[in-house]
Amino acid sequence: MSVVALISGRGSNLDALLRAGIPVAAVVSNVAGAGGLVIAAKHGVPTVVVKHGDFASREAFEAVLAAEIDRFAPKLVVLAGFMRVLTPGFVQRYAGRLINIHPSLLPVFPGLQTHRRALAEGVKLHGCTVHFVTADLDHGPIVAQAAVPVLRDDTEESLAARVLMQEHVVFPRAVRWFLDGKLVIEKGLVRVKGDDAQLLNSDSA
Ligand code: GRF
Repeated sequence: MSVVALISGRGSNLDALLRAGIPVAAVVSNVAGAGGLVIAAKHGVPTVVVKHGDFASREAFEAVLAAEIDRFAPKLVVLAGFMRVLTPGFVQRYAGRLINIHPSLLPVFPGLQTHRRALAEGVKLHGCTVHFVTADLDHGPIVAQAAVPVLRDDTEESLAARVLMQEHVVFPRAVRWFLDGKLVIEKGLVRVKGDDAQLLNSDSA
């Protein structure tokens, strides 16, 4: 029933999962000084560092990454701010049990600098998405989204902060659904058994 979380940075989403009582068996980081490692240790969760720079190829890095993950035999692997592109082979190995949190309302703004791009486009609604990971970067079946209005005076920082608050709500909720066996993928679309709302917003969350 456990989860392995992959991180690269500060780990606020990891913290949200742990605070929500998600059973995280281990945290694996590709960055030695990642803040999330400290958060994991505070919660008594084992940590592993696999530095991508130590390997000659993506495949060699991922072979060790997968071996570390598999030691914990997780039911689910979550990307909680893991900033490495994964090869199709790795994604296939964890097909149907690999979930990511992305800071935009996919399919708009895949990739990086999503808040800056949202402001530059003048969108009025922004947010975050939890989705199953496929070989197509930031394009897998959508589990849940949280919407955040873009305010007239928003900066990249203020918008990012409001989206992040919603990430911390929607990510644990989606992971709990998975662990409870509530997610069904049909023709590339995700349904939640029991019809829990898959769209949250600042008012409903
Ligand atoms: C979050 O914005 C998440 O959506 C993205 O990377 C960031 C990670 O932040 N994938 P944190 O490390 O969880 O604080």
